[in-house]
Amino acid sequence: MSASLTLTFLGHSAWLIRHGDDSILIDPFVTGNPHAPVPADQLEPTAILVTHGHGDHLGDAETIAKRTGAVVISTFEVANYLKARGCENTVGMGIGGGRAFPFGHLKFTIAHHSSSTPDGAYCGSPAGLLLTLGGRTIYHAGDTGLFYDMKLIGDMNAIDVALLPIGDYFTMGVADAVVAVEFLHPKLTIPMHYNTFPPIEVDAHDFVAQIAGKGFAGLVVDPGVSHSL
Ligand code: NI
Ligand code: MN
Repeated sequence: MSASLTLTFLGHSAWLIRHGDDSILIDPFVTGNPHAPVPADQLEPTAILVTHGHGDHLGDAETIAKRTGAVVISTFEVANYLKARGCENTVGMGIGGGRAFPFGHLKFTIAHHSSSTPDGAYCGSPAGLLLTLGGRTIYHAGDTGLFYDMKLIGDMNAIDVALLPIGDYFTMGVADAVVAVEFLHPKLTIPMHYNTFPPIEVDAHDFVAQIAGKGFAGLVVDPGVSHSL
């Protein structure tokens, strides 16, 4: 009944979440990602989730979707962008909207950031993801600064794992991400979006130590490593 749920970190904000026969790829920035443990042509997801249009998140979504036929689920504008480029199986959703999919339930949350594709296409608002599958809820914050509504997200959802950006410069840094954990109060927090490039080099172990000091569990997962729930 509750098959194991495995989260594999592909570096930056890219994750592969496996549960039963479902293989869900989030923010598939693989080509050009110095920490990606596998090339894009070896990924065989059944669904691809994209938080916003920036190249380090949209990544290889188009080529992987075309090769595998996996559904791409993103914001309305990103989904339309991919559809116009020939991805046949896309779903475009809006902030605050949730929907059941064969793999589980997905809801789009706010994220304070920006969103356009590398070639300049307007992508509306960026998003975070609340993914519930196999009885577990995962919050992938996308790229965002700290926002007080994280408290609402945490109070309305029993988050098992929060995947939070900590790299500063483009997103929350360590100090703000610590406050985000207090707002979200997840069972486990795993940092992401750090050390990929020089501007976002931070000490993830320091982040985990700081949240541990406030009574929250954190785990540094290195690229290529899987964590099972
Ligand atoms: Ni971004
Ligand atoms: Mn980013």
